[in-house]
Amino acid sequence: MTAARARRSWRWQWQLLTALTLLALLALQRLSSRNTQLLELQNHLPNLPFLAPPALSPFCNAANANGNADACTARKLEDRAPQYLPTSSLKHPTSIPPLKKTSNAGVVYYNWKLFQKDYREMLQRFRIYVYQDAYNKGNAYANVFMRHERPLDPKLGNYFSEHMFKINLLDSTFVTSNPAQANLFFLPFSVNVMRNDPRIRSETSIAEFVAKYVERIRREFEFWNKSLGADHFYVCCHSVGREAAARSLYLQRNAMQVSCSSNIYHKFYVPHKDVPLAQVWPRPPEPHVTPPQHRKRLAFYAGRAQNSRVRNHLINNWGNDPDMDIRADKIRGSYIEAFRRSKYCLHVKGYEVNTARISDAIHYGCVPVIISDHYDLPFANIIDWSKFSVIISQTDIPLLKTILLSISDAAYSQLHKNVLKVRKHFSWHKQPKDYDSFHMTMYQLWLRRNIISPLATSHMEWASSTLHNL
Ligand SMILES: *[C@@H]1O[C@H](CO)[C@@H](O)[C@H](O)[C@H]1NC(C)=O
Repeated sequence: MTAARARRSWRWQWQLLTALTLLALLALQRLSSRNTQLLELQNHLPNLPFLAPPALSPFCNAANANGNADACTARKLEDRAPQYLPTSSLKHPTSIPPLKKTSNAGVVYYNWKLFQKDYREMLQRFRIYVYQDAYNKGNAYANVFMRHERPLDPKLGNYFSEHMFKINLLDSTFVTSNPAQANLFFLPFSVNVMRNDPRIRSETSIAEFVAKYVERIRREFEFWNKSLGADHFYVCCHSVGREAAARSLYLQRNAMQVSCSSNIYHKFYVPHKDVPLAQVWPRPPEPHVTPPQHRKRLAFYAGRAQNSRVRNHLINNWGNDPDMDIRADKIRGSYIEAFRRSKYCLHVKGYEVNTARISDAIHYGCVPVIISDHYDLPFANIIDWSKFSVIISQTDIPLLKTILLSISDAAYSQLHKNVLKVRKHFSWHKQPKDYDSFHMTMYQLWLRRNIISPLATSHMEWASSTLHNL
């Protein structure tokens, strides 16, 4: 190599090195300036406003009695305001990381204080107008609209919740005969009764019957048009019920469906509008729940596999496991005993996302394992399901045993304790009790009472007439 060639090569290398250093410096500077910009942005983010829960009217009465009129006037103003305030502040904000299991394992409610306060207000202020068909024996289809005479009939088992909700509602002080006072309007048809009425029976006929009924309500009463049905609701626990609104666009899009088949993947179910109803079988009371140490079997499942891919998958994987009782047919011994002797009781999607197995498990103090993707679980905005159940994705069925065995005895004990805490939410009573299935469902409706503000009404009427002139 000549000296000139060596110098050229050296100069070339030097130039490359300088260029690279310059590039690196530039990149570094850009990065740090971006960081400063980000930091500045963060500093300028406004604090999230704190939404106070609506004022409670008893305070006002108490203030009046004490002659404290000022406090009362202030509250009166607030009383009007809540109509336009969002009320579902109980939802767990997604921006806050979930609570750590170790320190908060016993905390089942997202915000018990706020919930309890708002619940109390519901008991005092919530008013429902029930269309009079629910009381009219003269109607040829009175059976469809009036309360069921024998809700405990074992044949109704799966639809017990549908009938109990209606019976409890009709007997409750929520009902007002003055529609001007009503927050919501109840359409009292029963899908379960229609399903068993030879004059109706088929899914298509049910949808037609319901559409005709809504048409009549819309023609004869002014309330429907005011919100195009958005402040109306109906209940169905029958799986066919989720198609009940198929022939009535407004019922489908606007009205609230209180439904056991709360599948967020189903075209007729809208999670933030519709209300999941807990599917509960009537069961005799279980005052002495088997404690964790006496639960000798790891897991229990028994139920028809039907055509369910998920159930078949489960049985193919775990049907012969010596530590678990997982059967497609009847299990050995009694069904109820199996809930008592098992640590975990499986709820597995069949035709629908829902079955009464979750509430059965909770009733007998067995920790529910939920294998049912897209199930909008009842009361999930109030109670934290991860604190009293194990939710497993359908694709993780092969990992079922590993997942269950990875839960420590201490963690299991806590899950079990929490199951007992939520038991009251999964039962119905002839005379409804505080926080039972009836009141919890009413509370979900209460949260949805202001979905349509009265200010929107004129606009809705305009929209309605435009739609009809198209
Ligand atoms: C509600 O609106 C529809 C369509 O515009 C109309 O046919 C019906 O008569 C209205 N109902 C009442 C009670 O005015």
